[in-house]
Amino acid sequence: MNILEIIAKKRDKQKLSKEEIEYFVQNYTNGNIPDYQASALTMAIYLNGMDEEETTNLTLAMANSGDILDLSELGIVVDKHSTGGIGDKVTLILAPIIASLDIPVAKMSGRGLGYTGGTIDKLEAIPGYNTSLTIDQFIQNVKEIGIALMGQTLNLAPADKKLYALRDTTSTTESIPLIASSIMSKKIAAGANKIVLDVTCGSGAFMKDLDNATKLAETMKKIGELANKETVCVITSMEEPLGKAVGNSLEVIEAIEFLKGNMQPDVKEVILTLGAYMIKLAGKGNDIEENKQKMLEQIRNGKAFEKLEQWIQKQGGDISYLEDVKKFEKAKFVVPVVTERSGYVEKLDAQEIGKASMNLGAGRKKKEDSIDFSVGIVLEKKIGDKVENGDVLAYIHAHDEKLGNEIAKDVLNAYTITNEIVSKKQDILKIV
Ligand code: URA
Repeated sequence: MNILEIIAKKRDKQKLSKEEIEYFVQNYTNGNIPDYQASALTMAIYLNGMDEEETTNLTLAMANSGDILDLSELGIVVDKHSTGGIGDKVTLILAPIIASLDIPVAKMSGRGLGYTGGTIDKLEAIPGYNTSLTIDQFIQNVKEIGIALMGQTLNLAPADKKLYALRDTTSTTESIPLIASSIMSKKIAAGANKIVLDVTCGSGAFMKDLDNATKLAETMKKIGELANKETVCVITSMEEPLGKAVGNSLEVIEAIEFLKGNMQPDVKEVILTLGAYMIKLAGKGNDIEENKQKMLEQIRNGKAFEKLEQWIQKQGGDISYLEDVKKFEKAKFVVPVVTERSGYVEKLDAQEIGKASMNLGAGRKKKEDSIDFSVGIVLEKKIGDKVENGDVLAYIHAHDEKLGNEIAKDVLNAYTITNEIVSKKQDILKIV
């Protein structure tokens, strides 16, 4: 077998065998196949696709490229993963709510990819938070306090680690077989029994329309079933960013505020739906509406916030920042984005906001870039809101005034204002 033949086969729209897929994954992971050949193959997969059998074989080969965690001693663990979004602070909020209901949370999260943010980058905005635990610490923390959340530092699905970074720099991210295998290989390797997936859909997501989001959801659900892991996909709108804040510290602050009871309506809808299915899969309640009420009660009685503090403290984070969010380092300049039109917000392009946030320094343009935790964007107006000439649509938090002013123009352009009344967008599009 050789890699040139495998690339040529996919280039010519032929189906790859299990052995060919395993050969590629093993030899790319151990360094025998260089990045340029892997790039050619991923581009051929991007252009010509893979059928269900090929996608499953790719997923299993990637899952088996490293260790497979055994979390059986923790009971039923329900994992959650998002296909990526803008302003997506869901895990920071959902994980402590679920753990406060005595459902173990043992989660590995990623860093930002392209214009989308990553939970690990956000957690590192909390001074002291340690994202790289050993496997023993990880399991011990879950046993002691019911929750641990770390980066992908263990040897889990190393093939995905390499391919994820390669795709990020070769414009091959938005591909159903590549996203499905990337996510499901990690979930299989991470040892959870059940999986809830947030499949984002819209301008700020990798899947731009409901048809493709449904295809991705069905593909992942099928792989989950084949791997004996019950999987539910919630397709959520990423037409505009989720919540108000985009940027690392700003999103952490929004998450903390949420757990103190100050909930943005779209974030609330997404959190409650994903969480209600997690509770159901954990065998702790079949009624979705009742499950949502249980979650709200954990916020009202302060137990979800207490769990957040316990979790952050256990992983070395300074919890005085949770009690007083003013302690987070602030960007030097806050530039308002002011509209000169009156009307209703018709569009707020999530992808443009994601790019604007990345350009401020909240994300990476190159793998080796460092992140500026304090910069980002706070959206004051969202789709459906009424605006008057002179209103502030958003605030840009920047370390450089000139850059802040430039980005303010980009953010203004991300808004479309119309004279017609616009209804709020639907947050939950479909359950698969
Ligand atoms: N999230 C992942 O883990 N992988 C992808 O390919 C896209 C989003």
